[in-house]
Amino acid sequence: MLKEKIARVFAEQFGGEGIFYASAGRINLIGEHTDYNGGFVFPGAIDKVIMAEIRPNGLDKVRVRSIDIDEYVEFGLEEKDAPSESWARYIFGVCREVLKRGGKVEGFDAVFAGNVPLGAGLSSSAALESCFAYAVNDLFNDNRIEKFELARIGQSTEHNYCGVNCGIMDQFASVCGKEGNLMRLDCRSLEYEYYPFHPEDYDLVLIDSCVKHELKDSPYNRRRESCERVAALLGVGTLRDADMDMLEAKREEMSEEDYKRAKYVIGEKERVLDVCDALEKGDYERVGRNMYATHEGLSKDYEVSCEELDFLNDVARETGVTGSRIMGGGFGGCTINLVSKKLHDDFVKEAVDRFEKKYGHAPKVYDVVISDGARRL
Ligand code: GLA
Repeated sequence: MLKEKIARVFAEQFGGEGIFYASAGRINLIGEHTDYNGGFVFPGAIDKVIMAEIRPNGLDKVRVRSIDIDEYVEFGLEEKDAPSESWARYIFGVCREVLKRGGKVEGFDAVFAGNVPLGAGLSSSAALESCFAYAVNDLFNDNRIEKFELARIGQSTEHNYCGVNCGIMDQFASVCGKEGNLMRLDCRSLEYEYYPFHPEDYDLVLIDSCVKHELKDSPYNRRRESCERVAALLGVGTLRDADMDMLEAKREEMSEEDYKRAKYVIGEKERVLDVCDALEKGDYERVGRNMYATHEGLSKDYEVSCEELDFLNDVARETGVTGSRIMGGGFGGCTINLVSKKLHDDFVKEAVDRFEKKYGHAPKVYDVVISDGARRL
């Protein structure tokens, strides 16, 4: 459906046809706000994508239409040509970052659309960056740029063109995701492993509060600054190399706020490792307990939750859901819930009904299907 829609608009806008590419949104089982602290993350790509049809145009400019935003933009490939539309800056940034690395980018025409919900914490922007990074690599660079570097190109785009000082998790998951597998990435060594994820008795369900989050200009960058201040004070490169004893020893020398931020991050590092161990033993109840502990830390210490997400977390707990927590950068978006299959329908009904009654609108519900990352279709 998405593909047909894009093909139709491409033919209208530019005539003929191009090549299709797609890249995915992501979930993260556990390991939140750890990526830029050199810690572990545990994401997977999902079956919601940004898809683009692209064709080199022989010009020195990019011409691109966003179906969802219903805008058309043209830009050149030099630094001075940066477009002002924020969605177009993701694509421009990717082109610039490829060029800065000595790669090749020529003009192209593109039409894109997606079904990754925007501002829901599912990384629609990483999906957009990864889709175009993958395409530019395939069309102009004979796929010489390694996959991990494609993820970095997306991350640098966020830093240099979009104002978000993010870590590597989202772009990594979007590019490297594999059907049926979560991935544990060590953000210090950048080594990663695929973890087949097929729990027989559990589902992963996302409940979207529909509170829109926008990481740009949000306190996201300030959280990162707190972590960096504490790491510097403790004399370590990142909080990955700190422990609670080190933190306590210097507690008097930092603000209470920075202390709480670091405490959360240090605890989260342990939780991801515990979840890996629990998954290997098939102990999903332990996975779930860690998820609740993460929520607690994100809400009380890291302070990136909001009333609606705390409410959804309470509903999950009260309904007997195995694990539940806010997912992604925070300040809105979804909770991710590990739900036993027999409880699935009751939980969804309970969450939707109670949320709607309290906030006057229903949350959205997405069942997670772990899927492939960036690809040519
Ligand atoms: C956003 C960022 C990621 C990561 C998460 C929190 O999604 O883009 O790099 O920091 O927040 O885990």
